[in-house]
Amino acid sequence: MNILGIETSCDDTSASIVANGKQILSNVAISQDEFHRQYKGIVPEVASRKHLETLLPVIDEALRLANLKLKELDAIAVTTHPGLMGALLVGVNTAKGLAYSQGLPLIGVNHLSAHLYALSLSNEVNYPLIGLIVSGGHTLLVKASDPLTIDIIGTTIDDACGECFDKVAKYFELGYPGGPAIDKLSQNGDEHAIPYPIFKSKGDNKYNFSYSGLKTAVIYQTEKICSPKKGSVKIEDISASFQKAAITPLVKKALLASEEFNIKTIGICGGVSANSYLRKLLAEVKGIEFIAPELKYCPDNAAMVAGIAYHQALKGDWSNLSLTPSSRPIRGGALSLD
Ligand code: KG4
Ligand code: ZN
Repeated sequence: MNILGIETSCDDTSASIVANGKQILSNVAISQDEFHRQYKGIVPEVASRKHLETLLPVIDEALRLANLKLKELDAIAVTTHPGLMGALLVGVNTAKGLAYSQGLPLIGVNHLSAHLYALSLSNEVNYPLIGLIVSGGHTLLVKASDPLTIDIIGTTIDDACGECFDKVAKYFELGYPGGPAIDKLSQNGDEHAIPYPIFKSKGDNKYNFSYSGLKTAVIYQTEKICSPKKGSVKIEDISASFQKAAITPLVKKALLASEEFNIKTIGICGGVSANSYLRKLLAEVKGIEFIAPELKYCPDNAAMVAGIAYHQALKGDWSNLSLTPSSRPIRGGALSLD
């Protein structure tokens, strides 16, 4: 079954054709970073307009690379939620138009379950698994018993992890997006240089995360250390110390969940899963199987959308032309990956 996936939930315009959930025939992704860089963050209106300009050429290119025509596809899948409303609308309406004009079935896909499915594009996944879905918009700890059965066990109570990387990078003028810049600088820094606070939570909230305090601590603590009396501190050391404080809770809570639920596979996904420190810490842990997507499938991409849509199709989870996007990961009043 050849499925065309469309992804426009944030600032990447992507189309991909995947056969039977696994064989990637093409994956085309255009990043909008250069347009948002001048604002040091994503401007939703700019994102929607850029999706409008690039989506059809991106789909054409995906079809060309897969050597397929639209009418040779078996279904069209599209990210419906969560994401930026205007950006999602471009993808969903394009998918609906194509599905209607070609008489093809439509499949609406949850962006977060799609991120987790990116693990299956590069690995044989042994379920159940403990998953970290970590990006610019989300920080979730989940338990998955198959690609479509995912329970959320922890989430951020304020900012997302990637957002914190971006905000800290913005403050130190390291460029946008901040994660890759901080990751790179940290390679030459001392992670013990500055004891930024590492978030801990207990009891019922033991699997939750918080990043707004860290962002503030980095700004104020660094200003104190860098006062004229105390001399200055290297940006590499600030980066490495911040990265340690941002990544350690992810690793600790994933390991805690692995132990509590006796699940030995831990997978990471989303933009932050490209982080080399996160990968190193988890790869060093003995007694667990650690899996991660290939770097190109960490950020938003349509291969993960077309991939998971195959499993939805097998279960008969089709959508119709009343499909509408939603900015929030909420269904029936609760945070959900349905
Ligand atoms: O998944 P993604 O492309 O888009 C969202 O759905 O948000 O994630 C983008 C986020 C940005 O916040 C970016 O700074 C972060 O992923 N990121 C990283 C790294 N590469 C990208 N964060 C830490 N280390 C990295 N190497
Ligand atoms: Zn994403």
